[in-house]
Amino acid sequence: MTAIRRLLLITSVAALLLGSGMLAIVFIEGRDIHPATAANTATGASLGGPFTLVAADGRTVTDQSYRGKWLLVYFGYTYCPDVCPTTLNNIAQALVRLGADTRAVTPIFITVDPQRDTRQVIGQYVKAFDPRIVGLTGSQAQIAAVAKEYRVYYEPQPAQNGGYLVDHSSFIYVIDPHGKFVKILPGSTSGAEIAAAIRPFIAGS
Ligand code: NI
Repeated sequence: MTAIRRLLLITSVAALLLGSGMLAIVFIEGRDIHPATAANTATGASLGGPFTLVAADGRTVTDQSYRGKWLLVYFGYTYCPDVCPTTLNNIAQALVRLGADTRAVTPIFITVDPQRDTRQVIGQYVKAFDPRIVGLTGSQAQIAAVAKEYRVYYEPQPAQNGGYLVDHSSFIYVIDPHGKFVKILPGSTSGAEIAAAIRPFIAGS
């Protein structure tokens, strides 16, 4: 089975299980499926939460900074070879498809590699996908704290070139304008599907 087919299969299985509400699977980029430790991830009862991070312009931001917007929160890193760029591209596509509804939405990309993803690096990176995507970084401790709130797995791995990659779970978290978690989407969700998934929320708010 090719890597792509395997990836599609794993993400489909993850989507199916998440959709069934029975079990959450964390998809680890390029590696394997990993049973989530979070028993209540399916209900999302405790996903998301307060954070303090740093924006590309150097401002300190918190979860409170984004109240009033529907958030699409995604964790990754700018050196990610394939999965993060694909997901950010899908999010950018979703923004286009949402048309006027996009005004109600703020996509946020939070790095799991703050060592390399300085605010300048992440700011430039997200802008290449869509200037409306917000790139956030922070100290190792700030990133660890927000990752814990969202139950995000991330783990640096040595790379063949002597550098490192960062394995990380890949989900898009939909947060409502009051800061409450409402939905989780696999990172592989297409732009059309992302737009379709959040449009009813925007319409109802
Ligand atoms: Ni990635």
